[in-house]
Amino acid sequence: MAEDTVTMDKIVALCKRRGFIFPSSEIYGGLGSTYDFGHYGVLLKTNVKGEWWRSLLQQRDDVVALDSAILQHPRVWEASGHVGGFSDPMVDCKQCGQRFRADHLDQLACPNKPSKQPGEGPECELTEAREFNLMFETTVGPLKDSGSIAYLRPETAQGIFINFKNVLQFSRKKPPFGIAQIGKSFRNEITPGNFIFRTREFEQMEMEFFVPPAEADKWFEFWSTERQRWYTDLGIRPDHLQLRVHEQDELSHYSSGTSDIEYLFPIGWSELEGIANRGDFDLKQHTEFSGEKLEYFDQASGEKYVPHVIEPAAGADRATLAFLVDAYDEEEIEGDVRTVLRLHPRLSPVKVAVLPLVKKDGQPELAREAFESLRGLMTTEYDEGGSIGKRYRRQDEIGTPWCVTIDHDSIDDRTVTIRERDSLSQERVAIDDLPALLSAKLAAPWQSPKLG
Ligand code: GLY
Repeated sequence: MAEDTVTMDKIVALCKRRGFIFPSSEIYGGLGSTYDFGHYGVLLKTNVKGEWWRSLLQQRDDVVALDSAILQHPRVWEASGHVGGFSDPMVDCKQCGQRFRADHLDQLACPNKPSKQPGEGPECELTEAREFNLMFETTVGPLKDSGSIAYLRPETAQGIFINFKNVLQFSRKKPPFGIAQIGKSFRNEITPGNFIFRTREFEQMEMEFFVPPAEADKWFEFWSTERQRWYTDLGIRPDHLQLRVHEQDELSHYSSGTSDIEYLFPIGWSELEGIANRGDFDLKQHTEFSGEKLEYFDQASGEKYVPHVIEPAAGADRATLAFLVDAYDEEEIEGDVRTVLRLHPRLSPVKVAVLPLVKKDGQPELAREAFESLRGLMTTEYDEGGSIGKRYRRQDEIGTPWCVTIDHDSIDDRTVTIRERDSLSQERVAIDDLPALLSAKLAAPWQSPKLG
């Protein structure tokens, strides 16, 4: 297998070219660091989220789902510590008027002299660092006064903590158990960037796993391992994944221990997911601020306690980007470069494309028959436009693992060819066997061909 040739620019270009992800508000000149997902991007990210749900809700029986509101009572964010402490240090340049994260200056370029970092250019005049709260503020209702302030949630986690009592009552679970949620969160980042890696509006996949206090360390280790396995099971190369333990001075205000699962992006090792030991911080804070006791009463032992929380918090957009980057490949075939996304078939936006070789002689009709037999089982595309080479190329670039080709022999003997995306091998099979054969291929274990 060829060397890794992926760059962020190639990913951005492929995402635009093939309709995965577009810069948002493009016809108005764009709005920095916001993106819109097109058809294949939606399918890919939906599959990523679906695999996350599947791993927690289908493959385990100690996790339940939640979908809480984005707008919550403002006291939630006082209790959580976000009103007082969710900030980044920033500096302004009095010359160019730009704002920078004070702790990221060494990674940033001066807008007037890009070879220098902010503050090092001849004209630069940086202010002292000030704390800048990352929450987006809005107002609820017709009056804009201090009583109507609300925030766009900066994490989905708090929606889980404030529903702890509801879920405990109705789910018939007891610690250890988890509440999982996927949803949009918002942070007014000073320096977003690197495509969909850091954006102000993003989608989180978070689980709060409530455990007896004495078991917190054990579950922290468990989820650190388990969550890495989720990525590698879905094809991420293990040598591109690492666990990095946070230093004491990096820990969030609520955490007594955090490890990041990092992926080796073209921009270097960067966080995909954080596993945090939040202890009893959140439940105790909400008990204090709301007056509602958030604890667990163990009827067997007669013991009452505030569970501790282990939180695996992943970014759906970051995970999607990591799967794209890890899958991207180029190979030379007979003098041409083939670009291919070697995605795990479960993640591929389209599982199978049905392609008649020519648009006549009964081939489109037979291809339609094959298409109809497959579309109820898996995402299937029918494509009869353009040369077969171009159609294969398009499917390779969106990561379709199998193409079914109907040719003139198919009309005589009802056999078709299955072309395999990674090996390019071709297999002749009966058209009537396609549903069973492709379902079996989709269910089979898979590993990245990049592993050799
Ligand atoms: N809930 C943790 C985070 O948003 O990073």
